[in-house]
Amino acid sequence: MAQLFSRTADMWFRLALLGLFGGLAALFVAFVILSRSDYTTDKGWTVQQPVPFSHEHHAGALQIDCRYCHDSVETSAVAGLPPTHTCMSCHSHLWTGAEMLALVRQSLAQGEPLRWNRVTELPDYVFFHHGVHVNAGVGCAECHGQVDSMPLMRKAETFSMSWCLDCHQDPAPRLRPRDAVADMSWTYKGDRRELGEALMRKHHIGDGNLTHCYTCHR
Ligand code: HEC
Ligand code: HEC
Ligand code: HEC
Ligand code: HEC
Ligand code: HEC
Repeated sequence: MAQLFSRTADMWFRLALLGLFGGLAALFVAFVILSRSDYTTDKGWTVQQPVPFSHEHHAGALQIDCRYCHDSVETSAVAGLPPTHTCMSCHSHLWTGAEMLALVRQSLAQGEPLRWNRVTELPDYVFFHHGVHVNAGVGCAECHGQVDSMPLMRKAETFSMSWCLDCHQDPAPRLRPRDAVADMSWTYKGDRRELGEALMRKHHIGDGNLTHCYTCHR
């Protein structure tokens, strides 16, 4: 009986040890997966908006140019979000009674801008400039993805430091002619690296040191 008891105790002791190590290993694996997954980077995530604005409808089906609404994207650091009267240029005579647009009408009547929740946002200590990228021939789609098929805006990339650096180390294959930057369906049949290298020479792109810390932290 005593022997049986100690054998059971022994078994429980082994099981407990196994459980402890197994648990620690599982925790470690979970930590590694979590720290690499989209959970911490928010890639692919969407946020709720006060008005369910759809890029799929407006930029996709209706083919409204990105720059009609984000009109400082070529000239300044920020792309800019459209003021309410941009929406009302159409919605004062289109879908005028729609419940979905009630907040838009209220915003115009009260002169209060709509408060959109940001999807892509960098920390304050990072310097970014839209105009420089767009004028160098980096298309919106390189960073924001296929916006024309997004019912709700989705964060298409991680926007992490290594993601920025990946391109800064070798931008050539991700460049396109300037007149195609906002074109969501642009494709190129030839060699994109060749095209990009030609564009870099033509527009003197990458002459500065794109990987220097001061480029993005100033
Ligand atoms: C160039 C004209 C135009 C502009 C500018 C415009 N819309 Fe629209 N919008 C439309 C049309 C047309 C529809 C109907 C789409 C459909 O049914 O396919 C629509 C539909 C909508 C809908 C209904 C849901 C949907 O997507 O079908 C919402 C909400 C909406 N628009 C919000 C906005 C907001 C907010 C703005 C400003 C940021 C805006 N729209 C700017 C033309 C426009
Ligand atoms: C009719 C106006 C309109 C057009 C056209 C339009 N957008 Fe937008 N965009 C908006 C509005 C309104 C928001 C804020 C709500 C949201 O995030 O969906 C926005 C948000 C965004 C954001 C998210 C910014 C953030 O950090 O929250 C990106 C990126 C963007 N637009 C890119 C584009 C691109 C690329 C195109 C062209 C393919 C485009 N937009 C065309 C009105 C427009
Ligand atoms: C090289 C990558 C890159 C390209 C190319 C790019 N964006 Fe952005 N975009 C960003 C980053 C990064 C942010 C967040 C900036 C911040 O928080 O300071 C952003 C933010 C935005 C925003 C919201 C905040 C703002 O700046 O007003 C809009 C709208 C937007 N982009 C639209 C566009 C459109 C339209 C194009 C193409 C004409 C475009 N972007 C091209 C990286 C890019
Ligand atoms: C898909 C490629 C690509 C991505 C992604 C990208 N960049 Fe750039 N970046 C460029 C190119 C190309 C230039 C233009 C260089 C030139 O004109 O010489 C540039 C220029 C810049 C400049 C201006 C440098 C200067 O002194 O003129 C800053 C700042 C910058 N990038 C920050 C960022 C940050 C921050 C991110 C990430 C959030 C980012 N970039 C992501 C391609 C990219
Ligand atoms: C092309 C742009 C770019 C360059 C060049 C760059 N960084 Fe960053 N850095 C970023 C961005 C974007 C973030 C924010 C990342 C985030 O939000 O996850 C960042 C974040 C950081 C952070 C905060 C901690 C972290 O890792 O998130 C430190 C520290 C940092 N950078 C140091 C440096 C140093 C040192 C250099 C030069 C060797 C450098 N960076 C060059 C874009 C850049």
